[in-house]
Amino acid sequence: MRQIKIFDTTLRDGEQSPGCSMNLKEKIEVAKRLEELRVDVIEAGFAISSPGDFESVNTIAKTVKDCSVASLARASEKDIDTAWEAVKVAADPRIHLFIATSPLHMEYKLKMTPAEVLERTAAMVKYAARYCLNIEFSAEDATRSDIDFLTQVVNVAVKNGARTINLPDTVGYTTPQEMRALIEHMVKNVENADQVDFSVHCHNDLGMAVSNSLAGVLGGATQIECTINGLGERAGNTSLEEVIMAMHTRPDIFSDVETRIDTTKIYRASKTVYNIIGQNPPINKPIVGKNAFAHESGIHQHGVMAHKQTYEILTPEAVGITSNNLVLGKHSGKHAFEERVNDLGYELSETELLKCFEEFKVLCDKKKTLNDADIEAIVMHNTAADDNDDEDGYKLDWFAVHTSNFTTSTSTVCLIKDGQKFEAVSLGDGPVDAAFKAIDIIAQPIEHTFDLYTINSTSEGKDTLGDVSIKMTADNRTYVGKGLSTDIIEASITAYIRAINKMHKDAGKFKKEA
Ligand code: KIV
Ligand code: ZN
Repeated sequence: MRQIKIFDTTLRDGEQSPGCSMNLKEKIEVAKRLEELRVDVIEAGFAISSPGDFESVNTIAKTVKDCSVASLARASEKDIDTAWEAVKVAADPRIHLFIATSPLHMEYKLKMTPAEVLERTAAMVKYAARYCLNIEFSAEDATRSDIDFLTQVVNVAVKNGARTINLPDTVGYTTPQEMRALIEHMVKNVENADQVDFSVHCHNDLGMAVSNSLAGVLGGATQIECTINGLGERAGNTSLEEVIMAMHTRPDIFSDVETRIDTTKIYRASKTVYNIIGQNPPINKPIVGKNAFAHESGIHQHGVMAHKQTYEILTPEAVGITSNNLVLGKHSGKHAFEERVNDLGYELSETELLKCFEEFKVLCDKKKTLNDADIEAIVMHNTAADDNDDEDGYKLDWFAVHTSNFTTSTSTVCLIKDGQKFEAVSLGDGPVDAAFKAIDIIAQPIEHTFDLYTINSTSEGKDTLGDVSIKMTADNRTYVGKGLSTDIIEASITAYIRAINKMHKDAGKFKKEA
């Protein structure tokens, strides 16, 4: 069996894409989910890009024990020094350095000749290899590079100590046939190829990232670079859940390969990432979308009832989706709640469990019974990743709105902070706008853009919970706030206050005592 390494770059290529930035706590939560999934390498960030990135790479390097932790670096001494400084504490640190090799990138971006790129590759791989043996070299825009020049660059990188050679399809341009041929060519033409992992890193601009990665594996690649939910620059990267389940579901084609991945942890990892970036999967998203396992049409339902495999090629259980349609209510105790949470695949700390149980009780007072989807929403709203309810931040005390279709909406909001109550009244274009304006008067958020406001119902039924996500950007950072309630105005207010609290915290507004 060929062991295929899974290199996850959700925290680097995924996180650097617009609307997907995460704070330290959120990144650590994602890293934990990746460790649980048993990926081989976590690319934790690009250490030199900012002090915040350095800190998160370094913290993840200290936290993660069961995977290699990598930092990206350009082919320069300063980048490599910083990457090493950030990852050296890891159980298995990796430096991932890159330089572009396509004519376009060399001439217009790097302003370097091919000979200079070759020379820089040799010198910088050698420089990085003084720090550790686990060196990955990427030839950026490999799929648009001259094949003979690319082979020369790869040979030089291997000779100077690169153990992994990554051949990115940086702009999502290649096709499966080309990707397979490229890897086959390298396996044949690179000296000591048997001592090197060839890696694919595909972008999804033409919707072929997963297919291209799989073709690379058939051509001899032993590492796939991918992200949870396919996050990443532009149209994203290869989606981890899709590429893994494709290999898992077609052992006839991928007969000689295996990975370490625990597929039953896929759903939770996917949910965590969507939750952090304030999005929901498109309903038809393969593997994790709401409809991925739903059989609606009569013909399909009939077939599935007669024999599951008529229309089902993989099971929801294989990716960790469990559902037994049990409901919990106001008489359910903490123990029953905990058992249900565990059955759904979540292990919570005692503090998280208590927070979830508190919210569960509050919601049970409003809605008679809560099903799996409601409980999952509670977990997502109260686990570490969501970083809700900052102790120093504002909290909702009470609110009142008046709205009709023939008057301007008005809202009064009372918030508490440091034991003090603040009240404000505002008019608005609808009840949500009026409530947000009243909150602005009290909390005075720093300058920001309001990027996204979504309400989803957690389950069927008119008494469903409203799950509100709000995303705002200030100082180039994204802030997500979430709220859950049977009352959508309350859920919106909670989400808005949480996003503002996060924003204020980053801006140092809560450090008034210092
Ligand atoms: O897409 C790309 O080329 C990259 C490299 C930096 C590996 O992300
Ligand atoms: Zn990339």
